[in-house]
Amino acid sequence: MRIHRVQSRCMDCGHTFEFHPLTARCPRCGSEWLQAEYDYDLARDRWLRQLADRPFNLWRYHELLPVQHAPPPIDLGVGGTPLLSSVHLTQMLKLPHLYIKDERQSPTSSFKDRQAAVTIAALQESGLTEMVVASTGNVAIAYSAYAARAGIKLWAFLTSLVPQEKMREVAIYGTQVVKVTASYDEAKQIAAEFARQRGLYIDRGARSIPTVESMKTLAFEISEQLTRQHPESRYGGLPWRAPDWYLQAVSGGLGPIGVAKGFRELYRMGLIDRMPKLGIVQAEGCSPMVQAWQKGQAQADPIPRPRTHITTLATGNPGRSYTLLYEYVREHGGTFVAVSDEEAFRAMHTLAKMEGLSMEPAAAVAFAGLIKLVREGVIQPHETVVVNCSGHTMPIESHILGERWARHVVVARRQEQAPAETTPLGAPQEGLLAALSTIATERYPRILIVDDHEPARILLRRILQSLGDYTILEAEDGYQALEMAQQDPPDLIILDLMMPGLDGFSVLDSLKSHPATAHIPVIVVTAKTLTTEEQRRLRRMARLMYKGEFLSDEFFEEIRGLLEQTR
Ligand SMILES: Cc1ncc(COP(=O)(O)O)c(C=O)c1O
Ligand SMILES: [Zn+2]
Repeated sequence: MRIHRVQSRCMDCGHTFEFHPLTARCPRCGSEWLQAEYDYDLARDRWLRQLADRPFNLWRYHELLPVQHAPPPIDLGVGGTPLLSSVHLTQMLKLPHLYIKDERQSPTSSFKDRQAAVTIAALQESGLTEMVVASTGNVAIAYSAYAARAGIKLWAFLTSLVPQEKMREVAIYGTQVVKVTASYDEAKQIAAEFARQRGLYIDRGARSIPTVESMKTLAFEISEQLTRQHPESRYGGLPWRAPDWYLQAVSGGLGPIGVAKGFRELYRMGLIDRMPKLGIVQAEGCSPMVQAWQKGQAQADPIPRPRTHITTLATGNPGRSYTLLYEYVREHGGTFVAVSDEEAFRAMHTLAKMEGLSMEPAAAVAFAGLIKLVREGVIQPHETVVVNCSGHTMPIESHILGERWARHVVVARRQEQAPAETTPLGAPQEGLLAALSTIATERYPRILIVDDHEPARILLRRILQSLGDYTILEAEDGYQALEMAQQDPPDLIILDLMMPGLDGFSVLDSLKSHPATAHIPVIVVTAKTLTTEEQRRLRRMARLMYKGEFLSDEFFEEIRGLLEQTR
């Protein structure tokens, strides 16, 4: 329990007045664009002395949140999500400092829990009992959970494009679901009119103070987590560390607006000494921000009919939110980038198979943007990058998986099956084994991975495991590789060049000079910068691929092509 002062400052006329969650306009000029301000000296002082002893959750930053009681009774354990180091994408992109803020691990599985928790806490403190949201799904789900705990009746306006699974998730919390057959922007207008007529509170996105304030906590957590992971590299003696980039998939832009405010506050308090660049990623079919950015405009032209399957990101008219982000990016760096639905679905598969993170297509948009920005050289290899993994998959829509995603085992039931006592205990039942044998009837191609570096072997092994049926063999050096290849020649060899002892060039020469191994196709995978002569020499004998220049599925295509040629 604590009392602190929160001020609202009008972004248009500068007027400052006491914050109240239900005050939606500046009393002087009528602007809806208000921003919260706090006593930053007090917050800095308390944080430096007390944070180490507070639990790692969103409420540890309560001095800079518009609530009076923290944690509030409605809390579901929001915030404090892990900052994961990437294991495989980091290698595939040659981006050693890649981190993933795993917001899937929030109470309702998306980063919108922050928004709902802080807003509902503030509203409950003001005694409010009914409210309205318009949503593409996740906001409504998050609000529904906290509204249930706060005893607040919630009206959720969802466009009919929201997947059925998500709509039902909203409904199970007892929310009043209003399905609107129109675009998301239109649904928002209808919800706003409904709220106006009934005098109800409505979440107005970046114009609502609790909403923006909640997203700041991402910046606070990320900075603290990076500092903990790199205690040796504190900048200029400052206690906290900011990343070089924050990347997020964006619809209305609330996330990055809040995150930007969070970093500004840390900077103002002297806790960080640089502002991160923002990577704003949108789905191509609904990318008003990217289009405006490319034209150098400070205002975005609305997209009346978004064309993307990724309905979570369906804000066609971002309004002033774009302008705020545009100004930030002009001042501190960053960019706006669009990715196709296909690129997003591909990134979704890659992240599930290679990092163990199953996320919804909207979250995958951020990763598709990451891949694009790294390949275009906009994100540099030495930079520290944090990507917001903003939401978990609801039941996967089948069109995303494609065919052959499961194997089917049918156990035959024979009428005349013997009674249980005639089957000796422990002996496998014939029917079961016969059924299982249908899974593994073929001999799988045998692939030998040769690399002295263990993480590189694990990466290649994982690619092969996740994308096809292979028997995978591994050698840690050139001698072991030659021995294995000669004893029982594999169908394909994946070969590193720089290895102690016998290097890849020598292994290749030796393989090609022995009749038993000369025919085996070889893919050289290397991080070495090769001379023209070396390249020519290698290309005569093998395929050549450069580490850090291919993703899992591209590598797999290469393998599949080579194996088919040798059949
Ligand atoms: C999973 C997920 N990612 C990203 C976004 C985009 O968020 P923002 O409001 O910051 O544009 C949303 C919005 O609902 C979302 O649910
Ligand atoms: Zn004003």
